[in-house]
Amino acid sequence: MKGEPLLGVFDSGVGGFSVLQELQKVTPANILYYGDCANAPYGNKSKEEITVYIKNILVYLKSQGVTHFVSACNSMSVTTTEELLEEIGITRDTYIDMIDGVRAIGLLDGANVLIIGTEATISSRVYQSILSEKIIPHRTYTLTTLAGEIEKGDTIAIMKSIEKAILYAKEMHATHILYACTHYPLVHTMFIDVSARLGWAGMFINPAVYVADLVATWKISGEHSVQCEASLETEVFISYRDRYVVVS
Ligand code: DGL
Repeated sequence: MKGEPLLGVFDSGVGGFSVLQELQKVTPANILYYGDCANAPYGNKSKEEITVYIKNILVYLKSQGVTHFVSACNSMSVTTTEELLEEIGITRDTYIDMIDGVRAIGLLDGANVLIIGTEATISSRVYQSILSEKIIPHRTYTLTTLAGEIEKGDTIAIMKSIEKAILYAKEMHATHILYACTHYPLVHTMFIDVSARLGWAGMFINPAVYVADLVATWKISGEHSVQCEASLETEVFISYRDRYVVVS
């Protein structure tokens, strides 16, 4: 309804459902989820292309009455500039993204972190800088195809991509894997299974948990309603929506 707060949560596709899951635990806010499945994955696209998508999504969400914005996509978060937000008329106090989540991660004593993410996210070097500031040793691993494989629900390909990441985590003696793509927590159980099989015994960090804590500070009122929209309603989108949206 007009004048009432509405939380817009957006991603290139289904990845943002992993953020939505955490948000639903901490806020009664009414949510409009938007997944740009027609253009997913974003992670291998140029900054210019991703910027056009971000602009279209934000303008659309605004037109739908969204008052508070959660960028539930790392590839978009690292590409969004203050100028872009300003151009669309979004103030920083009504916008939270995955970078805010990573910044909120506490100090990890004795950790050696492997950041896994898309080309756009890893090449931006945003998370490397944040972990360097926190003096947390880290390395990166770019998963060029995993988000797309999750969008397609291609289990065999997903498994192979996860194996490569876990083998690298093992080789570099990582103590933690940082999910720097919101698609990855959707297949967390596969990460756990592969880790057990390949003998890697580290921990996983999901920045969505920290994003949810930040969103909770907005203290938005609402009725826990969730409306989901996609530029293309794929079978995978429908199946994640049905699994992740808590009907109250
Ligand atoms: N889920 C997104 C992210 O966190 C996008 C992945 C993609 O579309 O390539 O980066």
